[in-house]
Amino acid sequence: MTVAPHFQFQDQVLHAEQVSLVCLAETYGTPLFVYSRQALHDAWESYRVAAQGRDVLVCYGMKANSNLAVLNEFARLGTGFDIVSGGELARVIAAGGDPAKVVFSGVGKQTWEIEAALDAGIKCFNVESQSELVRIADIAARKKMVAPISLRVNPDVDACTHPYISTGLKDNKFGIAIDEAPEVYALAQTLPSLHIVGVDCHIGSQITEISPYLDALNKLLSLIQTLSEQGITLHHLDLGGGLGIRYTDETPATPTMLLTEVFKALDAQGLSHLQLVLEPGRSMVGNAGVLLTRIEYLKRNEAKNFAVVDAAMNDLIRPTLYEAWHDVEAVQPRAEGEALTYDIVGPICESGDWLAKDRTLALEEGDLLAVMSAGAYAFTMASQYNTRPRAAEIMVDGTQAHVIRPREELTSLFSSERLLP
Ligand code: LLP
Repeated sequence: MTVAPHFQFQDQVLHAEQVSLVCLAETYGTPLFVYSRQALHDAWESYRVAAQGRDVLVCYGMKANSNLAVLNEFARLGTGFDIVSGGELARVIAAGGDPAKVVFSGVGKQTWEIEAALDAGIKCFNVESQSELVRIADIAARKKMVAPISLRVNPDVDACTHPYISTGLKDNKFGIAIDEAPEVYALAQTLPSLHIVGVDCHIGSQITEISPYLDALNKLLSLIQTLSEQGITLHHLDLGGGLGIRYTDETPATPTMLLTEVFKALDAQGLSHLQLVLEPGRSMVGNAGVLLTRIEYLKRNEAKNFAVVDAAMNDLIRPTLYEAWHDVEAVQPRAEGEALTYDIVGPICESGDWLAKDRTLALEEGDLLAVMSAGAYAFTMASQYNTRPRAAEIMVDGTQAHVIRPREELTSLFSSERLLP
């Protein structure tokens, strides 16, 4: 059993759904991202079932994986999108997503991005500072439009996750301190080009427990109470994303576990009428993908054994950036042969170029490895460092494989560059 239900062994070969990863590597080369369409459906289904009978809008946190095929699939299933840039808005539109189901988060929204979002008719701006609030109001007024807004408040709760992906603490750059929120809402109330529609928070990522969400929710509920005393009524409450996935042996809370408690708290406060917005990213796609890579060389020095593979930190930066653990599976595990402890490293000229450390595997040069749980924050964080073309992306659907992004051509990496006169 691997960590990802849609990537399992059949006849001793790792498959994506019904397609052998050996065949995909031979056809499309490596490094290669391989996704499972069914895994996307199942992830969506776990939110849909959890939300049944209630007014819930899932705005997929598309920074996790923004390939148009992925976005289009979710749009067809009915999701909205959480965007953080004008570029992401353009992707949503190109993928056939509904702008009316888009929420726009991020601390640094630029004028052109705010204009584009107003023109597209998004659902809501998640405003992260008073200056941004004023800027949105000015732009909307100039365009003779009314901007729907929600304040992203920082509830100062510990999401108990890696410090780089924790966002709801006082010393993070995100959101408006919850104590200052009533004042900023009061200002918004005076600006006729703004329409207050909600309140929002996002406390972090790869959260496996529901208690940090409930701590944040309780703070938001008392803010909603204060606002109603100020004469402000809200249409929705956005709890952000952040539910974790299994990378190794985690048992993250499920959407049902989370939403059951959230609905209980809303009902207890007489707030069942509030629409609930969620912004899940990782839990929608993380275990829907693997990074397939081939071993170029095995080498050893005095201290260590290394498997040098053709994928690198430019394809998957999470290990070196967050010391993140990704399981590594041999695509065709060797029954015989000595298992040694390897660091799995790439060809990039950085000591930080590693994908996994201290993994005990029986390996030979030419073997294929699958780096698991690479559906989220993998391709979207990829770069071309060392002038390496970004990998191709394949979507498997049952027995079919579809190229959803071909491997980048070498020349395309520098064809837009210009020589000096
Ligand atoms: N909403 C907002 C405002 C966010 O900032 C994020 C993620 C999400 C939703 C989606 O969160 P998720 O459900 O995926 O946890 N690159 C890091 C993760 C960064 C998350 C940034 N914000 C990683 O690879 O672990």
